[in-house]
Amino acid sequence: MSRKPIIAGNWKMNLLKSEAKSVFEGIKDFVKDYSATELPTIVIAPVFTSISSVESVKCDCGCCGTKIAVAGQNCHWESSGAYTGEISVEMLKDAGCDYVIIGHSERRQYFSETDEMINKKAKAILAGGLIPIICCGETLEQRESGITDSWISGQIKAALQGISAEDIAKSVIAYEPIWAIGTGKTCDADEANRVIAMIRSVVKEVAGSDAADSIRILYGGSVKPSTIEEQMSKSDIDGALVGGASLKAESFNEIIANTMKVACGV
Ligand code: PGA
Repeated sequence: MSRKPIIAGNWKMNLLKSEAKSVFEGIKDFVKDYSATELPTIVIAPVFTSISSVESVKCDCGCCGTKIAVAGQNCHWESSGAYTGEISVEMLKDAGCDYVIIGHSERRQYFSETDEMINKKAKAILAGGLIPIICCGETLEQRESGITDSWISGQIKAALQGISAEDIAKSVIAYEPIWAIGTGKTCDADEANRVIAMIRSVVKEVAGSDAADSIRILYGGSVKPSTIEEQMSKSDIDGALVGGASLKAESFNEIIANTMKVACGV
């Protein structure tokens, strides 16, 4: 089964509007030379206040609008109401988003997000017609004590609970070992592939083989232009969630180009 790769840039709490616009313009400039079929699915997750700025860079001629999707970095599961500081799926959709990143380890760690909240968010995103990018991953301590697989399998089962196989099939999971995020220490590609294959088997268990074959599972954690080729050559790694290296168009474009060498047939 061939799954279209995804290269997603998580800009986290970085880049002011003008900076976001200029990085986006740099990516747009690169993708214009390729067709949407040649390119991986490209997703950019700016801060909320920059979503409209990057959207304004897109044009209607098909040269970029269909090639670069925009994502929210978080959302609330309710559609509106007294939730100061939160943003709904409908609001993200209204701003132009097609994807929403949920359950990032930074949100779990600093904002006490639980598996239950992530499950509610995933359901709200799918009900709103957007695609969740559900993050999971273990700490170094958990890895060293040998509980990586059971921990991640628990996170995935909780996040997908009560979601139909059809909706699971179109969702995206990002495996991001916490010790590899922003540290420069990339997880060995064979090991990342092993964990991702394990996640796929969990998806098969909860939603069946069609969903397991269709769902795209990404690796994240210090992905760089120099690491992506090996990562993308592995059987179960369907793309990358990129933090630091997505903040500059040059390195993000290089990641896209290197992905195309291995996975998109260019
Ligand atoms: P990093 O971040 O590429 O800077 O390690 C990845 C992420 O947190 O999504």
